[in-house]
Amino acid sequence: MSILELRNIYRDRLNLSNQECDYIYKVVLKDLCFIDPIKIALDPNFIIRKDSENLILDSLKKICNNYPLDYLISKKNFYGYDFFVNEDVLIPRPETEELVKWILDDNNNLTGTKKVIDLCSGSGCIGIVISKENNNMDVTLSDVSDKALEVCNRNKIIFNPGVKLIKLDLNSKLQHHEKYDLIVSNPPYLSRDEANEIGENVKYEPEIALFAPRNKPLHFYEKIFEFASTNLNKNGEIYLEINPNFIKDFRQLLSRFNPNDVNFREDFRGKKRLVKVLF
Ligand SMILES: C[S@@+](CC[C@H](N)C(=O)[O-])C[C@H]1O[C@@H](n2cnc3c(N)ncnc32)[C@H](O)[C@@H]1O
Repeated sequence: MSILELRNIYRDRLNLSNQECDYIYKVVLKDLCFIDPIKIALDPNFIIRKDSENLILDSLKKICNNYPLDYLISKKNFYGYDFFVNEDVLIPRPETEELVKWILDDNNNLTGTKKVIDLCSGSGCIGIVISKENNNMDVTLSDVSDKALEVCNRNKIIFNPGVKLIKLDLNSKLQHHEKYDLIVSNPPYLSRDEANEIGENVKYEPEIALFAPRNKPLHFYEKIFEFASTNLNKNGEIYLEINPNFIKDFRQLLSRFNPNDVNFREDFRGKKRLVKVLF
């Protein structure tokens, strides 16, 4: 089939505007088949090889089933960096970029080294970007999932082999004796009740990355504050992404740990989703 015929099949089958269909088709052409999308305009009768045609049609089927484009092309841009992603990790979200920006802005004039740990690092997007953008941040990435750690290691090798990577289970009695100046985390925070409200494509993301334990939506925040009580240096800081639906409970939980200061921030959708806690 020609490059234009296949484009028209995308337009026919996807329930989206032509502009959105064309965007997706061009990404598939470029990132999966290594065909320059400019050919659609310059050489519309260009015949796509059979193996690429199969790949393009197979991709279309997946997209019709809400399979995320980012998984299809195995990458997601986060803070200007193309992270490798697959179904073993959460696809990095734009609101998480805001958390990263907050940390970078606060540490713009940092002199001396700050030891940072990214708990629940998934693809490694938070910690790796911090380490790339601020040379004074000495970053450790950690996660419980071996498969997520493999993805994280791949990104570490691509972007900054200097960051450390450890397996750390927030649910087990921790035997980790390093101390840090800054903890950052975007832990699993969806409650099971929210499962029906979230988008269709989320069903392809790992459950372990999405959901807090049943009836305990703040479970991981409690574990993070417990970790901080032994592993955060005096005057340390914690930056977290939180569930905007549980702010009151979050405040209650936090009061048990006697913080010195707490600042909430809204994300770009106007939801209170980011918090900085000073101890
Ligand atoms: C919401 S994802 C965040 C991924 C990444 N930081 C991001 O912002 O895109 C949460 C991560 O927590 C990890 N996780 C789940 N349970 C954990 C546990 N008990 N201890 C440590 N990490 C855990 C999951 O494997 C997953 O990678």
